[in-house]
Amino acid sequence: MSQEKHLFSPITLNNLEIKNRIAMPPMCQYSAHKKDGVANNWHFVHYASRAVGGTGLIIVEMTNVEPAGRISDRCLGLWDDAQIQPLKRIVDECHKYGSKMAIQIGHAGRKAEDAPEPVSASDVRFSSSYKQPRALSNQEVKEMVQKYKRAVERAVEAGFDAIEIHGAHGYLIHQFHSPLTNLRDDEYGKDKTLFGREVLRAAKEVMPEGMPLIFRLSAAEYVEGGYGLDYAMEIAKEYMKEGIDVFHITSGGEGPIGSGGRPGVHAGYQVPMAREIKKATGLPAIAVGKLSDFEMANAVIGNEDADMVAIGRGMLRNPNWALEASFAIRRDTEIPYQLERAFPAQK
Ligand SMILES: Cc1cc2nc3c(=O)[nH]c(=O)nc-3n(C[C@H](O)[C@H](O)[C@H](O)COP(=O)(O)O)c2cc1C
Repeated sequence: MSQEKHLFSPITLNNLEIKNRIAMPPMCQYSAHKKDGVANNWHFVHYASRAVGGTGLIIVEMTNVEPAGRISDRCLGLWDDAQIQPLKRIVDECHKYGSKMAIQIGHAGRKAEDAPEPVSASDVRFSSSYKQPRALSNQEVKEMVQKYKRAVERAVEAGFDAIEIHGAHGYLIHQFHSPLTNLRDDEYGKDKTLFGREVLRAAKEVMPEGMPLIFRLSAAEYVEGGYGLDYAMEIAKEYMKEGIDVFHITSGGEGPIGSGGRPGVHAGYQVPMAREIKKATGLPAIAVGKLSDFEMANAVIGNEDADMVAIGRGMLRNPNWALEASFAIRRDTEIPYQLERAFPAQK
């Protein structure tokens, strides 16, 4: 047997064993139709299907720490105990098919489109079609850290195996670490990663020993004057001091796409950033972005550019992406017996 790693090599993150290197990244479903942040049957079917489809790690969509932190009022939340049980039902079902479950905890900040008055690090508007945000007071920033902590606590209660803190795509933590949107003169302005680090520290306090903490980071901003990979590597090193186990590397989101040099969105366009952050921090990385070609995704693992790949739109199109991948790259994986005739033995 070759020692070369491939998509179906198991991986252990902190104490969590995952059956393969395939993750489903967080993808908002905007489907909490009662506007109560509570997961429903759509979410149940959506996530359970990807578990049946062989996904090693499912990261549930951005789930928000307060109502005003939602991108839309149909996004999920974990600010209330009533939101725990429906998520637990999903987690328990997905576990039956061997998937490990993570959840992305976040706050949209100035990009909370349905909030009456969005909040942010500073009163800098996203674009003319977004509302004017209000800068959080120093006391409110501290309270916000506690809201993240309570949401993480509820996620643990729901049975999740891992926590992902959303530090990317121009949402609240990103708004604090970006010099474009953090113009504060208090300690949270002087130290751009302080808010995110306090959130990570608070999360750790309520997570069981051995549970992986994932941090999603935009490694470049595609706007005039935005930060690039060098800055991202610096802040990644700051964030890792709080006990992050894995970086999930994405990019963009801090401004409307502008003149800041957006790379082409060809296959694997964010992989080089994942590789560099992995190198700079020495921590495992999840690569994401146009990796739905099976050979391409397998190459990212084989070449050790990243430790896992996340397949977003590819998995929206095909819940059985992981099973198909095993068929395409001729690697064994367990096929649910109900689906066996669609994946006949290739030997
Ligand atoms: C419908 C949809 C919803 C998304 N929602 C989130 C989200 O909740 N949190 C997040 O960090 N990224 C979100 N993303 C970005 C994806 O996680 C992923 O990074 C992106 O789709 C690129 O991967 P892909 O090319 O495999 O789709 C979303 C993407 C899509 C298509």
